[in-house]
Amino acid sequence: MGQTDTEKTKKLNVQAQVVTYLAKQISDYKVIEPVKVGKASGNCTDSQPSFSSLANAGSTTNCGRCHNSSLYKGDMDISDYSSVSSVSVSGDPETSTIYRVIIPNGQMYKYTTQALNDTIYCWIKGGLQP
Ligand code: HEC
Repeated sequence: MGQTDTEKTKKLNVQAQVVTYLAKQISDYKVIEPVKVGKASGNCTDSQPSFSSLANAGSTTNCGRCHNSSLYKGDMDISDYSSVSSVSVSGDPETSTIYRVIIPNGQMYKYTTQALNDTIYCWIKGGLQP
């Protein structure tokens, strides 16, 4: 059963509308750059920052919902000095568990920020000041 010319024209019109619609979607689509968090810059303005610098950089907000005194994930309370020190190697960020988990490919990478990475790095480098 053949199509009439009117039916063919209707079909072609619908197809043209679909193509126009898709072309508009593609041209409207903006590539959203993922937030790029990398390793710490290593530029520590304060050579011996205190433990409170971590909270100031957002550790409580970013890590505290899982690492607090009641929810002790990974045996770590981010607000507790000795707890955070136990996953840190004084003066050596690169071998410190807490630093290793927040850099690219680290287990906690998706929760961190660049500011937090820089701060944790400098706090460890500075000798885990209380
Ligand atoms: C959504 C919950 C959640 C958030 C948010 C979170 N963590 Fe964790 N973290 C966990 C869990 C669960 C574990 C235990 C993983 C395991 O044992 O395999 C863990 C383990 C750890 C460990 C121990 C790793 C080890 O190998 O001993 C460290 C250090 C750590 N997290 C740091 C952080 C830091 C720093 C942040 C913030 C940037 C953070 N976490 C944010 C859930 C979280």
